Amino acid sequence: MYEDRIRHAGLRGRVVTAEEAQAWIQNGMTVGVSGFTRAGDVKAVPKALAAQVKKTGEVRKINLYSGASLGESDPILSESGVINSRLPFIADAVTRKAINRGDIRYMDQHLSHTVEILRTGVLGHMDLAIIEATAITENGGIIPTTAVGNSPVFVEKADKIIIEVNLAMPLNFEGLHDIYIPQDRPSRQPIPIMNVSDRIGVPYITCDPDKILGIVISNESDSPSDLPPADAETERMAGHILELLSHEVRRGRLPATLGPLQSGVGQVANAVLSGLRNGPFEGLTVYTEVAQDAVFELMDAGKVAFASANSLTLSQSMQERVLTQLDAYRDKMVLRPQELTNHPEVIRRLGVIAINTALEVDVYGNVNSTHVGGTHMMNGIGGSGDFARNAALTIFVTKSLAKDGKISSIIPFTPHVDHTEHDVDIIVTEQGIADLRGLTPRERSKEILAHVVHPMYREALADYVQRATARGGQTPHLLSEALSWHTRFEQTGDMRLAELVGTVNK
Ligand code: COA
Repeated sequence: MYEDRIRHAGLRGRVVTAEEAQAWIQNGMTVGVSGFTRAGDVKAVPKALAAQVKKTGEVRKINLYSGASLGESDPILSESGVINSRLPFIADAVTRKAINRGDIRYMDQHLSHTVEILRTGVLGHMDLAIIEATAITENGGIIPTTAVGNSPVFVEKADKIIIEVNLAMPLNFEGLHDIYIPQDRPSRQPIPIMNVSDRIGVPYITCDPDKILGIVISNESDSPSDLPPADAETERMAGHILELLSHEVRRGRLPATLGPLQSGVGQVANAVLSGLRNGPFEGLTVYTEVAQDAVFELMDAGKVAFASANSLTLSQSMQERVLTQLDAYRDKMVLRPQELTNHPEVIRRLGVIAINTALEVDVYGNVNSTHVGGTHMMNGIGGSGDFARNAALTIFVTKSLAKDGKISSIIPFTPHVDHTEHDVDIIVTEQGIADLRGLTPRERSKEILAHVVHPMYREALADYVQRATARGGQTPHLLSEALSWHTRFEQTGDMRLAELVGTVNK
């Protein structure tokens, strides 16, 4: 049985059911799982664990580490109360609520940092890794599926390993991955990725067969992404970005093929990238962590020549298309571990153009990507910081309004900062582009006021900036008022001053 999927003959006898495998997960364990933004996550064993805990009422609390968010497993495990600590990224409502209640200890990390922190030992010991595989090679190597994530280092560090071989994943995934683990310090060498398409490792995760406790056979697709389609505003934002990139090429600041593109999670970033289909650029490359639908749309349109990513986070229809036509993308794509897709050295060397989404941006260009109202976790910083600090051009996109205009995404002072003014080059909203490069904070506030604030809030923001500037300072603020838009929203459900709503809407 499964000779093509478990090619190491000695391992075929280790096939167990998910119910048997979940019993190996003990209270207090630290467990590393495959999975990155719904792709390539282990599916059967987490569900069996949650079902068992629900049935028996037993207490089993684990520290759950992954590449990024999981598909169905995150909400199922959170709901069953199994999770003590979670890192480095989540994206579902159930886990989000448990984190904000304080029921789950959440460590929101730059995605390139997780394995580095694991290596230091600060996070303690990894007891178990559970990894989804397309197949196991003759020497016990694990061929991943739709994501590589942190799996190579989890497999290296964990005492024991459970593999979920997923029959729903086509065998021709083999050869698409490029697995490379940087050497330990102090003898670490430069990472030899000189071009987006360079392959520097092997096509499987090296694994000591003796560490494999058991193999579970699963047959389930990834949870599809549920991005809403582009709307008029995201299309306008895409248009602004096309205009900006064309301008940069005309000025000789970018080559005609731009630079490798990165685009973050979420509907806005996906829609904006997708908008490049209408642009004049050809021979584009992608160096990103998540390949959403837009990357394949651009490849299919002949715009993108090569994409390097860590995961394929796709809608249902795009999943079906890509998985049945994997061979068509074989010479145009590579999937790498996230410590390489997000590695500062490589991002800076390649000159990546990074497009990520902000929740809100303050009038000097500081960006909040993670904390709603400054306090409540949305998803996490993900890889946005890895890219923002190191990209050749760092763009943040956001609609200028949220919640039907009750929230302005451009505010006087951001109550939580993920990306400081020093890392942010360009802000794009449907209103326009604020180019902050080479500007002082006072100049930046003028640029932001002129181009990206929604007209409904412009007057109020201009008034704040003017009064703050009158008091002086390199980055002028009225500290007693700086967060007043947020406190007003907390108290009234609307950021607008009652009298200003009347005034500016006339
Ligand atoms: N205050 C409060 N809520 C806000 C807000 C603000 N300033 N701006 C947006 N929101 C809400 C929206 O109303 C929406 O709420 P809903 O789910 O109830 O409809 C939600 O936040 C998502 O906003 P949306 O405009 O649909 O954006 P998105 O799907 O593109 O996601 C982020 C935006 C910031 C949440 C998402 O990009 C993210 O998690 N980023 C951090 C991680 C990251 O950037 N990784 C990049 C590398 S992969």
